[in-house]
Amino acid sequence: MTNSTSKSASINSTVGTRSRVVILASGNGSNAQAIIDACQSNKVSADIIKVISNIPSAYVLTRAANAGIDALCIDHKRYPNRESFDLVLAKELDSLQADVIVLAGFMRILSEGFVNQFTGKLLNIHPSLLPKYPGLNTHQRALDANDEEHGTSVHFVTPELDGGPVILQAKVPIFESDSADDLAQRVQSQEHEIYPIVVNWLCSKRAILKSDGAYLDGKKLPECGYASE
Ligand code: GAR
Repeated sequence: MTNSTSKSASINSTVGTRSRVVILASGNGSNAQAIIDACQSNKVSADIIKVISNIPSAYVLTRAANAGIDALCIDHKRYPNRESFDLVLAKELDSLQADVIVLAGFMRILSEGFVNQFTGKLLNIHPSLLPKYPGLNTHQRALDANDEEHGTSVHFVTPELDGGPVILQAKVPIFESDSADDLAQRVQSQEHEIYPIVVNWLCSKRAILKSDGAYLDGKKLPECGYASE
């Protein structure tokens, strides 16, 4: 490296540093797309340095390629157990020096060791108004319970499944004629609005995970996250 390149490299590394974001996703990747778009249009001051999927045929890998972002598949079926898959994933994230790791429809339970290694950097979006309906089939469960409203939650990931502190939720109404698919679509359009906002909060360090919960701008957030009413 010449003197002039090393000087400009050091200026670039201290001025306007952009966060290094990695997205983990297992499927269609519409949330990943919303975050990619927000970063590429500078609404979020971050670079997506890689999209990783555990499913070789996941459309999210095509979305990444179309956006000019490195895409990688780590096929979980090639590993004998959860821990061995998580170790490979952790090694990859470590080598990428990820500041923020965004789970966007990543349909894998992560081991406690993995979550603890990246604590405070891991975000997830879950299609329910947590703490209601952790786990699967959330839209059908909201319909079966005759709920009048449903929604989505962005939260920090902790070892408890879908149990980490909520940062932001969005609510949607449930109408009598709704099917689970109708509800999923209504929820997803809200997800595409709120997930990039929270990624931006974490990248800019406005949102922080502490031992007693999630904080935004130095204030502890309530159980349902920011602006829950
Ligand atoms: C999203 O609705 C997300 O909330 C959900 O999967 C969908 C992925 O859609 N995540 C979970 O259920 C995690 N427990 P996408 O691939 O189009 O972003």
